[in-house]
Amino acid sequence: MSAGLQAAVPVIAIDGPSASGKGTVAARVAAALGFHYLDSGALYRLTALAARRAAVALPQLEDDAARRQQIETALAEVAATLDVRLDGEHVWLAGEAVDAALRDERTSREASQVAALGPVRAALLERQRAFRQAPGLVTDGRDMGTVVFTDAVLKVFLTATAEERAQRRHKQLMEKGLSVKLEDLLRDIRERDARDASRAHAPLVQDAAAGLLDTTGLTADEAVAEVLRRYALCALPACK
Ligand code: C5P
Repeated sequence: MSAGLQAAVPVIAIDGPSASGKGTVAARVAAALGFHYLDSGALYRLTALAARRAAVALPQLEDDAARRQQIETALAEVAATLDVRLDGEHVWLAGEAVDAALRDERTSREASQVAALGPVRAALLERQRAFRQAPGLVTDGRDMGTVVFTDAVLKVFLTATAEERAQRRHKQLMEKGLSVKLEDLLRDIRERDARDASRAHAPLVQDAAAGLLDTTGLTADEAVAEVLRRYALCALPACK
């Protein structure tokens, strides 16, 4: 598709903090509209996982500038050469389904570390934009509306209190038979929020054009319906 035609494809950009439920909401909005769906966080998670498998180190506080640069270059190379397939059901890395490994707490933490690095973000930029295909794209992440798809037709900043997010994650893990302490999850979520919001490259901020959607106390169905309601208003001049 030419760049001009691609720019005409509508994008709904849903950004927000960790465990806010934006992935569930974005995937269901995409299904309701028959649009493509991009979980941009999966690309950062895959970069962290692929780096671990290739024994590429993550930056450490004690690293000097030269070592740090070397590590950033190596991680950007991992991101640029990811052998990944997202088929809507599974995520494949080098031909292996890696859904479980992608979602564990270690990968979550490491994804947020690699995502703080400018060269990694740059390496993933065009790969994300390539998902913009007719009839439309719904995408979720931290910088979909602020950096990757600045011309998105609808931008939503989806959030919930840290306590509610920790509780939702706790429930999900319990359902999978995994026991994790609620207070540990809350601490991890707060740490990730702080790192995502304070980093120099593409920090998590609400775009000026993004409408806030606080899902504390809302069901997933209600949040999906609200995004669809806002999208329906996009035919009108004030699209928020
Ligand atoms: O959304 P998810 O929790 O799967 O993202 C994993 C990590 O990737 C986040 O903690 C965040 O640091 C990073 N990320 C990002 N930009 C995006 C999506 C995710 O920095 N667009």
